[in-house]
Amino acid sequence: MTILVTGGAGFIGSNFVLDWLAGSGEWVVNVDKLTYAGNLQNLSSLAGDERHVFVRGDIADSDLIARLLAEHQPRAVVNFAAESHVDRSIHGPEDFIQTNIVGTFRLLEAVRAYWSGLANHGREAFRFLHVSTDEVYGSLAADAPAFTESNRYKPNSPYSASKAASDHLVRAYHHTYGLPVLTTNCSNNYGPFHFPEKLIPLVIHNALAGKALPIYGDGQQIRDWLYVKDHCSAIRRVLEAGAVGATYNVGGWNEQANLDVVRLVCELLDELNPRHEGTSYASQIVYVADRPGHDHRYAIDAGKIERELGWRPQETFASGIRKTVQWYLGNQEWVANVTSGAYRDWIVQQYAS
Ligand code: NAD
Ligand code: TYD
Repeated sequence: MTILVTGGAGFIGSNFVLDWLAGSGEWVVNVDKLTYAGNLQNLSSLAGDERHVFVRGDIADSDLIARLLAEHQPRAVVNFAAESHVDRSIHGPEDFIQTNIVGTFRLLEAVRAYWSGLANHGREAFRFLHVSTDEVYGSLAADAPAFTESNRYKPNSPYSASKAASDHLVRAYHHTYGLPVLTTNCSNNYGPFHFPEKLIPLVIHNALAGKALPIYGDGQQIRDWLYVKDHCSAIRRVLEAGAVGATYNVGGWNEQANLDVVRLVCELLDELNPRHEGTSYASQIVYVADRPGHDHRYAIDAGKIERELGWRPQETFASGIRKTVQWYLGNQEWVANVTSGAYRDWIVQQYAS
């Protein structure tokens, strides 16, 4: 048996592929365009493993996807491929429209054609799992209940709007054509192989480099944080037992203000890799201009996936963030490789002022 994964060289996708192959004999065909966010080094431990077939390609390339589906006959497709960074979507939304909307549409079309041609048992067993975000629900007031699967979609950024559009397409392909889809809407992930444009790895990287730790606005914005390995186990569980056509919110029951997250990372670095000066990394915190249209609060009610599929996160924030800081301290070569070239241009553009 084989599954086809898209975006499997990115942060969550590569963690998913590694965990999948560690726990299953099933092959993985991994299609990734290798944008700035895709990094084959994340998968270097799979070198020589014939169960991992990597193909550089675009989910919007209908011919390529049709060929791979016909050749490998996967029993499921798991779609991670996306442009994923809110700040980049503010500077340049076009790529987000192209990959997240047009790309998902073309992928759905290719998958629908393949699935329609499967024999009875294969058609029934097939699944298309779409990995999405809690950001499609928009921003919560401080006292509002956490997002459930029945919250209205109210996306506020070009990123979340493009993900919302892709979720709607996935839903429509089930409703109209009967394609057996599953959708997961997850909160902010953190852990190994997280590209250092996002808050937690950026702060670790900047702290160690003696650079400013930029806090947007007052730093009181709230996110729910989930350790990436827990997200991967949730996706495996939904793939295995999720109700066809259903959506599942995935979260860590772990709301944190940005400033508290940054302070905690600084404390861990103070303990594990103290500054030569003897002062805390927190002294590098700098308040910078807020993100335009910044969503104030996200919170996930992950009750449905727990009740129906028995999934709960295993990691606490204290244990997950410690592992994460330790991973970055132990993998400075990975960080050095991904923060060369295009990364530097982005940092100059985003934080110049
Ligand atoms: P990422 O940016 O780290 O990785 C995205 C991967 O997709 C990269 O390897 C990139 O090369 C690839 N890619 C981009 N465009 C492509 C295309 N057109 N065709 C094929 N491959 C393409 O993103 P991530 O953080 O790993 O997120 C993975 C998925 O999870 C995304 O769909 C994202 O919306 C969703 N998600 C992420 C988070 C989070 O906190 N990171 C939270 C919830 C949901
Ligand atoms: P990010 O990691 O970009 O994820 P998302 O925007 O998808 O939630 O940002 C997490 C939070 O951290 C978000 O509220 C924006 C804030 N943030 C900063 O304060 N400074 C930064 O340099 C970055 C990248 C993010």
